[in-house]
Formats: sequence, structure tokens, C-alpha cells
Amino acid sequence: MSLQVHSDRAMLGPRMSEHEQRFELLADLGAMVAGEVELDDLLGTFAARVARALGADGATLWLIDGANGEIRSRVATLPELDDVRLPAGRGIVGHVAQTGELVNVRDAASDPRWAEDVAERIGYRATSILTAPIVRRDQIRGVLQVVNKQPSGAFTERDEEFVRVLAEQIGRALDYTTLRGNDAQPGLTLRGRFNHVIGTSPAMAAVYEMIVRAAQTDATVLLHGETGTGKGLLARAIHVNSARRESPFVHVDCTTLPEALVESELFGHERGAYTGADSRVIGKVEAAAGGTLFLDEIGELPLLLQGKLLRFVQERKFERVGGRETLTADVRIVVATNRDLGAMAAVGQFRSDLYFRLRVVEIEIPTLRSRGGDDIVDLATHFVEQLSRRYRKGPMRLATATKPALAAYAWPGNVRELENTIERAVVLCQGPKITVKDLALEAPRAGSTTGTFSAMDSMIGIPVAAVATAATDEISLPPNLELEEVERRYAKAILDREGGNQSAAARALGISRNKLARLLK
Ligand SMILES: Nc1ncnc2c1ncn2[C@@H]1O[C@H](COP(=O)(O)OP(=O)(O)OP(=O)(O)O)[C@@H](O)[C@H]1O
Ligand SMILES: [Mg+2]
Repeated sequence: MSLQVHSDRAMLGPRMSEHEQRFELLADLGAMVAGEVELDDLLGTFAARVARALGADGATLWLIDGANGEIRSRVATLPELDDVRLPAGRGIVGHVAQTGELVNVRDAASDPRWAEDVAERIGYRATSILTAPIVRRDQIRGVLQVVNKQPSGAFTERDEEFVRVLAEQIGRALDYTTLRGNDAQPGLTLRGRFNHVIGTSPAMAAVYEMIVRAAQTDATVLLHGETGTGKGLLARAIHVNSARRESPFVHVDCTTLPEALVESELFGHERGAYTGADSRVIGKVEAAAGGTLFLDEIGELPLLLQGKLLRFVQERKFERVGGRETLTADVRIVVATNRDLGAMAAVGQFRSDLYFRLRVVEIEIPTLRSRGGDDIVDLATHFVEQLSRRYRKGPMRLATATKPALAAYAWPGNVRELENTIERAVVLCQGPKITVKDLALEAPRAGSTTGTFSAMDSMIGIPVAAVATAATDEISLPPNLELEEVERRYAKAILDREGGNQSAAARALGISRNKLARLLK
């Protein structure tokens, strides 16, 4: 991954001492990986800081792809970005990736390991190159490289020592990202496009794409999905991938607020607005100024407040409770719900004008079962690693037999249920291996089966349990249909079976009523 960042020494601003910069970089590493960011951004930030701390022209963090041993300049394969890939062993980078030796050269082009074609591909000819392996648990995961063009920019022994320590810290930090290393082999595997958001299924790839696009604008986003699908996590991903990332992300949960307090919570109140209001308090809307306001469980917002929110959504104007002054706040609005707002609007429980204003960009978050077995196992593995660290249980892993069991379970509580299941197993499990028994999964619901997901199931977003039920009812479809047509006919057959009851059909299919309505169109 050629996350190269060429910094200009002249542009560094007020100069901290080199020692201070190096110390600060090491200290900040943990905080950098703790944020939910797109991985390429994260690695780019690393590289920029490294180059600066070493007073180098540029730094590159190369990662080894666990699948094929290629050395890659980028994590996510975004089509708009160049991705330099080197075969194992090629050039100085390849040599370090293969041997794990640190290499410090002062006249790079005369080094026997120098590969002219690599320099050409990168578009950069360096004179001095300092290259260190990133090793974690005895496996080489990647390579950290700093380069200088000027002959005077040779790297010293002190630089070597610093880069060695830094590479070790980066190796540690990678454990806390969505990149995963396997103890038995070198390299890393990417498990998702954003840091902390796991999942590579086509259904999630479509969600990431929507999120990245929405994040580039200030458009209002409605996240819809069953409970526990990750709406909160993705709302934050929108914020941290937007230009507002340095400003606040303010979360308001509309269910936990008593009705009488919602207005004041959102918009604030003036002193004396009501008994007990002995000072002015600003609301969440003002607290989020410049950043993102996340209204969670928006379906629970009392009707009365929906009107006031509508005005704010339309004009970004509001008044504090008990105040006469009309104020404005510049915020991006993200809302989430597991309710069917369209259906609520149809029966007058939710203002339809507000509903239309909120769904400028509507993102349907897939259920866990519809994401397929690979995502389920990746998430489970991620939670095992994360929670065994949190509970200081030493390295733990899933027994092989647990994987099909996890993949076949219906997960009505989605990712949250999976996380809780793994947490309980990690806490109660005695040895390092988590077995099916440790998971204590509930018996499968009637009609479900213990098969694994086929690619087709996960593609059409219908859980295997539903497919199996249908199979016993013998729904037959003609061959050679377009995928969309298969989905439509299948959904129609289930609707017929449920006597035309849309809610029951949506439940049986494991999708929302909205999605069912769209499928049937
Ligand atoms: N793709 C994912 N990768 C890693 N962790 C995830 C993912 N999706 C969800 N989680 C974790 O699962 C838990 C539930 O996610 P979250 O709270 O975002 O769901 P939700 O859709 O907001 O649920 P609810 O509707 O119940 O509020 C959280 O701990 C979250 O970090
Ligand atoms: Mg939530």
C-alpha cells in the first residue's frame, strides 16, 4: 500500500524539537487507531506523521496481503485511488518484507536490491531509504519506509532505532483495526472498509459505498435497520468520514427522554423557562454546531416535537424553550430507526412531511443473517479477539465446529446478539478454545435449518431460515430468471403463503416492510 505522503519541511509550521515530535507520535498512535475512520485515511495519517517526525520527504506504510503475499500500498481497493502492488521479494521493500531485516541505504540506486521498475511504479526516486519490517507475534505484517531525495538526508543510527520502535508500535496498533493478522501466516486480511466496522459481504459493501458518498455531502441521512444491525456505529462512520470530523458528534436517543424534556434537551432553554430552570442551558442542536446531530430511534419522537424538528430540518432555525430569539445552527443530521416510518406515517403516528425530509439519503442496514456466514464468522472472530483482551483471558479462538453453528443461527438480535453471545462465551469458557456448547445458542426457530449460506442467499438478502421454510412448501421458480425477478417472485410467493399479510411476510423473509414493498413493486 503506497500510502505515501510527501511532506515539505518548509511547511511544517512552528517547529517542535525532533525529540518532541517523535515522542508525541508514539504517544498519539493509540488515539489514532481508536477513532472510527476509513483505513486508508488512518494509514495515510500515520505516514504523514512519520515523515514529519523524521524530517523525511516521505513515508510509506506497506502492508502484506495475507491472501497472496503481495505487498500493497493501500488497504481498501477504492477504484479512485492508485494501488501499488509488488510481488513478494521485489525491491528493497520486498526484501524487508521477506527477511524481516531492517535496511538503511544512503545511495539507494546502487543497492543490489534496488528495483528500477518499483521506483517507476511509485513515481519517486529516493536517495536515502530507511526500511523496517512491521512484525507482530512473530509474523511480518508489513513494512514501514521513509525516504529522502537529497544526498544530505541520509538516515542515522538514531533514526534506525526510532523507526524500529515505531514499527513495533504500529504492529501493536494494527491489532485494534479492522485489519487482521493470523498467527500462523504473514500478512494481514482486510475485514471491512472502515476501521472498527467488520464485514465484507456484498450487502455491506453496498452500505459502505452509500456511507462514503453521503459523507461527502451535508445531506440528511436516514439509517433503517433491525435492532442491533449497527446503525449507531454507521452513523458515527458518516461523521468521521465527513469534512465535519473535527467537530462534535452529538447523539440524542429519542427513547430515553421523558416527553416533557425532549424539547429542552434538543433546543435548550432560557433561564426561568420553567420551574427549576435557573440558568440558560444550550440544547443538543447547539452543542452539535459545525458537526453532526445523530437522532437515534427517531420513530419514538413525540408528534408535537416532530413539527418543531421539521422546521429545524428545513431551515436550521429554532428557539430555546422560553426564549424569543430565533437561532440557527449549522449541523448535519443523521437519524436512525428500526420502525417502518412509512407505515407509521400512513396511520398518522409520524408526520409524513418530516419523513420525506429525513429520507434524503435512506440506507437500509442488512440483517446479520442476510449478510451471510463469512461476515458472521469474521464478526465473531473480531469479538473473540476484542473481548478476550478486555477480560484479560489470554489468546482465545473459536473451535472449528463453532463456525457452521454461528453461520446457521438466525440472529434475531443481529450483531448485538452476536457480540453478547461471544462475550458470555469468553467470560465463561475455561480453556483457550470456544466450543459450540460455550456459545449456548438458543434452539433454531421452527422451519430453520443448519445449512450454510450459499452465495445466492446472501446476495438476495433473504436468510437461509426463510429459504428452508419455503423449500418445504415447494415454491418453484422457472430457470434463467434475472436475480431481481427471482427475489420479486419469491417474496410474492411468501406473501401469498402468509395470506397477503405484509408484516408476516416481511418477518418470514427477515427484511423490513419497506424493503418488501420495494421488492414487490
Ligand atoms: N459491522 C460491525 N462491526 C463491528 N461491530 C459492530 C458492527 N455492527 C454492529 N457492531 C457492534 O454491535 C453492537 C450493536 O450495534 P449498534 O448499537 O450500532 O446497533 P443499532 O442498529 O444501533 O441497534 P439498536 O437499533 O438496538 O439501537 C455495538 O456494540 C456495535 O459496536
Ligand atoms: Mg442504536
